[in-house]
Amino acid sequence: MKIQVLGSAAGGGFPQWNCNCRNCAGYRAGTLNARSRTQSSIAVSANGEDWILFNASPDIRQQLADFAPMQPNRKIRDTGIAAIVFIDSQIDHTTGLLMLREGCPHEVWCTDMVYQDLTTGFPIFKMLEHWNGGIKRNRIPVEGSVEEGTNTFVIPQVPELKLTAVALLSSAPPYSPHRNDPHPGDNIGILIEDTRSGKTLFYAPGLGQIEPHLKPIMKDADCLLVDGTIWRDDELITSGVGDKLGVTMGHLAQSRNDETGKGGMIDFLDTLDKPRKVLIHINNTNPILDEDSPERAEVEAHGIEVSWDGMGIEL
Ligand code: MLT
Ligand code: MN
Ligand code: ZN
Repeated sequence: MKIQVLGSAAGGGFPQWNCNCRNCAGYRAGTLNARSRTQSSIAVSANGEDWILFNASPDIRQQLADFAPMQPNRKIRDTGIAAIVFIDSQIDHTTGLLMLREGCPHEVWCTDMVYQDLTTGFPIFKMLEHWNGGIKRNRIPVEGSVEEGTNTFVIPQVPELKLTAVALLSSAPPYSPHRNDPHPGDNIGILIEDTRSGKTLFYAPGLGQIEPHLKPIMKDADCLLVDGTIWRDDELITSGVGDKLGVTMGHLAQSRNDETGKGGMIDFLDTLDKPRKVLIHINNTNPILDEDSPERAEVEAHGIEVSWDGMGIEL
């Protein structure tokens, strides 16, 4: 399967329009060795022509323009987007659907919880009904056990890929009617298996904690594309841009969570031998964006890659 990183940054992108943190200011001044990045999205295909878009970021227009295979030009109006999968209902993962309105109806896959958010608190599915009927909603199951495979689904337009939804502990966005009442399906990771080769990718840009059911999935995957939002749990606070900890936002920091303890993403990834390890959804405050930083060197010393817009992975 072909995997294309369309956007490797977290919400806001890098540099963020109103941010003057060390990274954003350094990038603008030309003094930071770093790449700019658009907001969180990947595309996956079996044949290189029909793509599943995982999340639709506000930067989708630029992302499609930068990746020619998603515009196959088979008829007068055309797209390589065969279906769209939402892993949550956050702004950075869903707003791009509005930019795709000219192509309605789209085949959209999401959990019941995400469907609820996107028809109530942030009703983009309702709004799009005014464009050629809007979306065709397909249900991602999250109630079964991952071991039994009952959360598995196949998107008919890309039948070679088998997808398994993995419920993740996190909270719904601020506009969700169940913001303070977490449900399975607010946020999912997706295991994608190419049934021709048996190769698997686990994609989870929002991963707040390594829950027990995740360990066997991540251990056996061929490639992980996982939460690289922040380096330290208190990074938004210490860089002066916010008041939330990573744990509160559902993002596990790469480095230790405090001065004394371990338990960050790097420690966990160190326990896995098989998968290729790649970070995605990187916040603009994260020092690993600075390619000359000690934090970037540390990540790389652990065999972990930092994804970038335009990165292609073939499994
Ligand atoms: C997140 O990943 O925590 C959200 O997308 C934050 C945001 O609103 O940008
Ligand atoms: Mn996000
Ligand atoms: Zn910044």
